[in-house]
Amino acid sequence: MKIGILDSGMGGLSVLHEAYHQLPNEEYFFYADEEHVPYGTKTKEQITEYVDAITNFLIEKGIDALVVACNTATSVAIETIRQKYDIPILGMEPAVKPAVEGTDGKRIMVIATPVTVRENKLKTLLSRVDGEHRVDIKATPGLVTFAEEQIFEGEEVTRYLTETFADIDKSGYQALVLGCTHFNYFKPVYKEVFGEDILLIDGNEGTVRHLADVLSLTRNCGVEKIEIQDIDDMKNRFHTTYFISGKEVTDKKLLTKFMKYHNRLEFVRDI
Ligand code: DGL
Repeated sequence: MKIGILDSGMGGLSVLHEAYHQLPNEEYFFYADEEHVPYGTKTKEQITEYVDAITNFLIEKGIDALVVACNTATSVAIETIRQKYDIPILGMEPAVKPAVEGTDGKRIMVIATPVTVRENKLKTLLSRVDGEHRVDIKATPGLVTFAEEQIFEGEEVTRYLTETFADIDKSGYQALVLGCTHFNYFKPVYKEVFGEDILLIDGNEGTVRHLADVLSLTRNCGVEKIEIQDIDDMKNRFHTTYFISGKEVTDKKLLTKFMKYHNRLEFVRDI
């Protein structure tokens, strides 16, 4: 099957990477809208216009299903594109439900972009699943910039998160929900700031499981590591066409950049 995956930028690779684990034999079209990243500080109208154009572009490539691998785009644009296009379109929303169900009374912190935090979709989700009012929400847009610049760890990232959460008692938190696909790269830093025991919860595994169900695909549940040696190895093992804002990526340097993101995602996968 041909599967389209879109995001404002490099966050969506975390969904593609999970798809490599569970559905390694499908054909992927990955679209990063680098021209417009970040989406998290744009208007609803702008984001909807970008996502509509990308969906149209990917449908012309012949995709059978689309994953909007972006919580921000899902919160503002998913209804519009679902009404307009006929293929299955999956969105992503912060994995609050598994966080509430998988913890036992302590608080839960959801981090997301300013748009996701502001929009009704998250508020509606909370009113449905957070009956005990255990969930707090914080916008951390700086992490999108760090992810785009491949700054995954180090003083700057630690400082940003420490300052962002300076006013809260971090020991009261049991789980951190990564409500933006760009946030997967920083898992070791969350542990540094919130403590080793903090549970890190993202929606990637569930999204790919859902995709497999929708397309009636059999998932590979193996736990083997995916360590990509070089771009030829990447091309041989996975059938993916990468696009950056409408242009197919063929340049070796850029493909190597994508490979580095994949290897980082593999490194943080089990944290
Ligand atoms: N990766 C996106 C998300 O999941 C958006 C990041 C951004 O462009 O602001 O929300």
